[in-house]
Amino acid sequence: MPEFIPLISDLEITKQIQKTGQKISSDYKEKDLVLVGVLKGSFIFMADLTRQISIDHDIDFIGASSYEGTSSTGQIVFTKQPDLEFESRDILLVEDIVDTGNTLLKIIEFIQLLNPKSIKICTLIDKHERREVKMDVDYSCFSLDKGFIVGYGLDYNEKYRNLPAIYDLKL
Ligand code: IMP
Ligand code: MG
Repeated sequence: MPEFIPLISDLEITKQIQKTGQKISSDYKEKDLVLVGVLKGSFIFMADLTRQISIDHDIDFIGASSYEGTSSTGQIVFTKQPDLEFESRDILLVEDIVDTGNTLLKIIEFIQLLNPKSIKICTLIDKHERREVKMDVDYSCFSLDKGFIVGYGLDYNEKYRNLPAIYDLKL
C-alpha cells in the first residue's frame, strides 16, 4: 500500500499563494498579463492563483505531458495549444512543479515563436535535485530538494490530484 506523508498543509498553500498573487499584481500593474497554466497539474493552482491577482488579466492553458509513473520520459507531448493571441503580451507560465526543467524549456521554445513581449515562470513547487537545464523560476511558492509528491493537482499515474494538501508519496 502506498504511504502518504504530509508535507505542505492546505493552510500553508493558501498563505503562499496569497503572497505570490500580491507580488504578481504589483509587478504586472502596467503590463498586459496572460496567465498560461500548464495542464493538467496546474489546474488547481491556477484556480487559486487567479483569484489572488487583483489586476486585470487573461487566462489560457497549454497541455503538455512528460511523466509516466515517478520518472520523466524525456519526451514532451503537446496535448493542447493556447487559444489566445500571445503576440506582444506578457506571458506568465503557471506550473505545478519544475523538476528536470525539460517540460518548461520545450514550452518556452514554443511560446517564443508566438512573439510575446515577455515570458516568465510561476511554479507552485521548485524541485531542485534533478534539474537538467538552466531555468530561472521567477515566482515559486515552495522549494523542495527531492522526493515525489502528490495532491493539490499533482498526480501519480493520474491519481491523487484531488487531495487538498501536498504529500510525499512512498510506494
Ligand atoms: P520536468 O520536465 O522534469 O520539469 O517535469 C515537470 C512535470 O513533471 C510537472 O509538470 C509534473 O507534471 C511532473 N512532476 C515532476 N515532479 C513531480 C512530483 O514530484 N510529483 C508529481 N508530478 C511531478
Ligand atoms: Mg503529472
